[in-house]
Parts: sequence; structure tokens; C-alpha cells
Amino acid sequence: MIPSASVFRISTSIYRRKLSLLSNVTIGASLALIAVTSPLRASAAPQNEPIRYDAAAHTFRMDAGNVSYVLGVNENGDLQTLYWGKRLGAHDSSPAPRSEGGSGFELAVDTTPHEFVGWGSGLYVVPNLKVTFPDGNRDLVLHYLSHTIHENTLTITLKDIERDVIVDLVYEMDPVTGVLARSARIQNRTKASFTIEEAFAATWNLPGSSDYQLRYLTGRWASEFNLQEQALHPGKIVLESRRGSTGDEVNPWFAIERGVQPDQDTGDVWFGALAWSGSWQINVEQNAANRVRVTGGFTPFDFAYSLKPGQSLETPKFYGGYSNAGIGGASRLLHRFELGSIVPQASDRKIRPILYNSWEATGFDVNESGQEALAEKAASIGVERFVMDDGWFGKRKDDHAGLGDWYVNPQKFPNGLKPLIDKVHTLGMDFGLWVEPEMVNPDSDLYRAHPDWVLKFPGRPRTEGRNQLVLNLARPDVRAYVYGFLDKLLTENDIAFLKWDYNRNWSEPGWPAVPLDQQKGVYVEAVRNLYGILAELRLKHPNVEIESCSGGGARVDLGILRYTDEVWPSDNTDPFDRLRIQDGFSYAYAPGIMMAWVTDSPNWMNNRATSLEYRLLSSMQGGLGIGANLNKWTQEDFTTAKAMIAQYKKLRPTVQNGELYRLISPENGSEYSVTESVSKDGRQAAIFAFLHSSQLRESYPRIYPRGLEEAREYNIRPVVGKLDSSIPQHASGDYWMHHGIEVSLRGDYQGMLFILEKDGSK
Ligand code: GLA
Repeated sequence: MIPSASVFRISTSIYRRKLSLLSNVTIGASLALIAVTSPLRASAAPQNEPIRYDAAAHTFRMDAGNVSYVLGVNENGDLQTLYWGKRLGAHDSSPAPRSEGGSGFELAVDTTPHEFVGWGSGLYVVPNLKVTFPDGNRDLVLHYLSHTIHENTLTITLKDIERDVIVDLVYEMDPVTGVLARSARIQNRTKASFTIEEAFAATWNLPGSSDYQLRYLTGRWASEFNLQEQALHPGKIVLESRRGSTGDEVNPWFAIERGVQPDQDTGDVWFGALAWSGSWQINVEQNAANRVRVTGGFTPFDFAYSLKPGQSLETPKFYGGYSNAGIGGASRLLHRFELGSIVPQASDRKIRPILYNSWEATGFDVNESGQEALAEKAASIGVERFVMDDGWFGKRKDDHAGLGDWYVNPQKFPNGLKPLIDKVHTLGMDFGLWVEPEMVNPDSDLYRAHPDWVLKFPGRPRTEGRNQLVLNLARPDVRAYVYGFLDKLLTENDIAFLKWDYNRNWSEPGWPAVPLDQQKGVYVEAVRNLYGILAELRLKHPNVEIESCSGGGARVDLGILRYTDEVWPSDNTDPFDRLRIQDGFSYAYAPGIMMAWVTDSPNWMNNRATSLEYRLLSSMQGGLGIGANLNKWTQEDFTTAKAMIAQYKKLRPTVQNGELYRLISPENGSEYSVTESVSKDGRQAAIFAFLHSSQLRESYPRIYPRGLEEAREYNIRPVVGKLDSSIPQHASGDYWMHHGIEVSLRGDYQGMLFILEKDGSK
């Protein structure tokens, strides 16, 4: 029986002697000898252990959900991937680890599917780690040293063949979804500092195939989460942010599908997401033999991290998963993982409340009476959380002043926030507030007092974005200030929710206060401090929920999601544009974390006019919010919204936490969009159908739901819109999924919602 923590460690002195042999070919035999002669209790592990070590073959196998991941140490001492994909039979074994390589032009180090490789010997692919030692040596060759297994976590330690550079690779597989978290801890156990120039968390290796399709997400302000699809060919595709934060130009997620599949629910898909909210990079490399490596971590651009003796650097986590149910299955797996294992209080997560936000109604012009009037109207339609947006603090009249001065503006709120918060509570809602903690306007008391608190290069201009500068959160005094004002705000006021905004990217990323060799460490330390502040705040104020916003969706990633309950995907609130943004978003992120507001028509961004019903339907596909100016609503608007919000409340667990099927895509100029959410228990399915514009008498495509139980009876019920009288009121899952449902949407910007429910469902 394997003990809960098994350790296989070769004593350093023996290993050093063995390593000295690495320059000649006998090392393979030496390592094999060590493996065979070591006390390897792990080999007797029962078949149902989540991690199994086979001492004779020197391989590790992880199993969870529908996934197996197998890796091993080859004859050179290199750690290589052996298999990643559909769960293998309990007794299946993988081929033995063996380095691969052909000619003088194709060295083994480049063709062997390394799990984690240093830049050294003759490496041409993206290295996981590249260092410069103080004596000018830049050669790093990492070999297996030891490992430990503790429940779901495997730690494999690598060491350079000569120097005491130690890398712990940590593997943790989610027992439910089989999503594997990988990261690396790089330790300097030498006697002198060295510089890390590149540090990637992990490499995911896929077998050779000439028909891989890559998907990723790109965007810009007001147009986030555009889905890109392209065939992979030999060469390298770089997905990256150099902006100091996650960015909306590319999101740190990818998916690779084998073959062009007939639908969303067929085929092998490997996917990954980087948990980092700073500058990052994911490289997708395909070699001439069509093997694929995906390597992700800190971007090497402008990167240098000095490691003193005894210090270590931890990379972000790079998550990877596999589904054999197509890209649809892959995103459902990722949604389940995010909601079940990433977001705070995952095991006891609250449903997203209906939120009201004042931004589009009042802009910066907030005050006690105006907000109270909106709060009364919001409460009357069933809103549960009232959020006051920008404008409540410092001397904030517009975006030129006030950021950094987090005291309540005495003209707008002469009695502080308490009267408004009390009023909101009396109306049966909780209260939320907008903050942008990492920024400062030059026109602020904070900047006047601490001009050196921002990112800057001495003597150089400071580029402003939205009239603001970025605070250097890597500085301990800035960290203390940011934590301090937020803690005070949350201690002194009954606040249930923070909308945490971040409205520009970095420029002139200098940190002149520390020695030269530490200055580029700002990319790492600022993000660590951000996470640290969020973690401490959550600990001290466990009931406060937080939304990650960055002028829309420029900071959505699995790193920030460990500390935030929801995200704001886009400032673009046009309900038609949103269909596409939400579709792209859903490839990587769960609808349960996606906030969507109903705002005014015509929309401020594109002047498009749509009905309130259409706007509500578009937003009901995630966490529903209202951001309209309720002072302008008619009685009919209030009646419509109240009725639809009441309907939404009945089906929101299905929409937020259920399984999402993208039935008809709004991508590529499609006139249609259909999504289906199936509840966790399979009893309810909510189907949203949208029509952009009727053209040339074309009829609406027939809708084929998915994910229903074939033999069970489901009733159909329209919530918004009418169903044709020819549609039976109840039929089997098979009937709905294979006969399909005809709807007759006509006109422009039309939408409908109907529900399939198992007999006996409420
Ligand atoms: C950003 C956010 C908006 C709003 C404004 C306030 O643009 O994305 O929702 O909060 O800031 O200035």
C-alpha cells in the first residue's frame, strides 16, 4: 500500500557523482540502476490511486475524471510526456520513456517531448527556464532528481547536471474534471545570485498530427473575446500580453482540436489556461514532424528576475484539460472546474444576485438623493444588489481627478455613505461600490504627496492613459496603502460587493527604488501583491464579493478568478454585440461568472435600438444586471422587467451553474444565435434563441437541443415568445434532440426563451 506521502529521493552526493557521468552515454544505465536499486514502495500502488509511480519503468500516471496523464524519466534523466488524453484502462501501460532524435540537425533535446526543459545544450524550442550565471555561463540542463506524491499532488524535482539550480515541478489533478494544474518553483541553491531570463510554468505536449485546429480569443476595448480559429502548421504562434496585466488583446486560454469536427460535441480537444494577471505568454509550437508543444508562463519580453542564494521564484499555474466530447465538452469541463475549484467559496458558491449598477445612468454624477431614487426603482423590479459606480470619492467630477483619494466626496455625500447604504438595505438589497485601487490621477492628493509611487523611469515622461498613472504595487508602501484604504472602507461601511476596476495598461514600467538587478521584478511582484491584497481582504471580510473589471474584460483569467466571484466581460452593453462577446467568453469562462447588464436603448455605443425584452433575454444568459437609467423608464418597462426578472430567478441556477451547449453560433456574421443551458440534475433546459434580421424569407433554423436524457419525457414551455401550435407539449428527450424544434422568429432583433422540463419538475 502506498503511504499518503511517498518520497523517492536520491541523496545529492550520490546523484552528483552520477551526474558527472552525464557527459557520456553511460548515464542512462546509471539512472536505471538507481531506480531499480532504490526502495520503491510506490510501485505497489493500487490501481485506483490518483497518482501511480511505476518504479521499474520510472513513470508516473495520473488519472481523474475522464483523463489520464502519463510522464516518465528517460535514459538521459530527462522528464518527458508519455500520454495526455482519454482515460486509459487501469492496467494499460505506456511505452517506456525514451529520448527521441535523429540527425545532427535534430538533436534529441529538441525532439523529445520534454515536460520542462532548461535552455542549454542544443535547445531551439521555447525553453521553460533560461538563466545567466554570474560567471557568464548560460547552459542549463535539468535532470530528474527525486519526487514526492501526496494525495492528488505530484512534485518532481529536477536539478542542473552541475550547479545547484533546483526546479520543483508541481502537478495537481482535479479529481472531478481531470484538469491538471502545473507550475514550477525555481530555487537558487548555488552560492551566488543568477538571473532568470525566461520562466514558463509548463509545456503541454501533443502527439504528431497534421490536422490540429487552434482556437484562441482576441479583442480590444468594447470588442472582447473574439473567437479565432486556425489550422496549425509547423512554426510558432505566440499569444501574449506585454501590458503588465492580462489584457484584452489576447486572453490566456487556448484549445486545440484534432481534425475539423462536424459539431461542437465531437472529437478530441486539449485546452489550457494560464492563471496569471500580469504580462504572460503562451507559445504554440509545431515542429516538422507535426508534434505540438504549448509552453506558457511569464512573457520573456522585458523580463529578468534576480534570484539570490536561497531564494526561489514560483511560476503561475498553467492549467490543462482534455475532453473527447469536442470543444463544447471542453468548455463545459472548464466551466465546471472554474465554478467547482477556482472561484472563492467554490464549494459553497452563492448564485449571482440581480444587480443594479449606476454607471450608464448617472456617469460620475452620483449623489445621495439621485442614487436613492434609482435604488427605489431598482428594488421595485426585483434587484437584489445595488452598486454605486465611479464618482463617489475624492474630487471626482470626471476622469481627470480623484483616483487615489478614497475618501467619500463631502459635497455629494455630506453624511458619508451610511444613509445611502441604510436606504438600500431598507429596500431589501445589499450594497456594492466601485473602486479602482491600483491607479492614481496626477490631479489627486495621493499623487501630490507621493509622486514616486507610480511606475516610472526617472527623468522620463510618464504616459497617461485615461488621465491616470499606474501605481507601483510592487512597492511595500503602495501595497500597504491600497490594502489599508480598502480594509477601512469595508470595516466602516456595510459593503457586500466591490467592483474592482483597472482602466489602463502599463507604460514606462520602471521601479527605480530598488537595486538595478531587481527592477524588472516589478512584473512579478506587483501581481503577487495584488493577489496578496485580495487574499487578505477576503480573509478579513469573508462576506464581501468582488468583481474583476478592467474597462470591460481586460482582466479575466484563472489567476484573478481565485480571488473574485464574477467578471465584467465588456463595456459594450449593446445586446446584439453582446451575443458574440458572450459566445467567445463561454469558450473559456463559465456563464456563472459573467455579468451582463440591460442598459438603455438606443445603446450609447452604437446607437442601436432594441426592445427591452430582447435586451433582457441577451443578458439573462449570464449573471443578470440592470444598468439602465430607470428614471426614464415607462410603467410598461417596469412591468416587463419585473416579470422577466421573476422568470429569470426561477431558472438562474440552470443558466449560471448548468451545462452550456452552443447550439447555433452568432460568429461569422450569423443571423442567428441559440444557446441551451441544462441544469446540473438534467431536469431543466433553458433555450435562448435570437434573430438578427429576417432576410429573403429564410426560415429560422430548426433547433436541436442536446444533453437531455433520451428516454425521459420533457414538457416544453415558452417563457418569452410563442411556440408554434404544431409543437407537442411534451415528448421524449430523443424527440426534442432528434426531431428538433421549429421556431418562427421574424423581424429584426427578435428573441425568445423556452424551457424543457422533466415531468414532475417545478
Ligand atoms: C470602466 C468600467 C465601467 C465603469 C467605468 C467608470 O470603464 O468598465 O463599467 O465602471 O470604468 O469609470
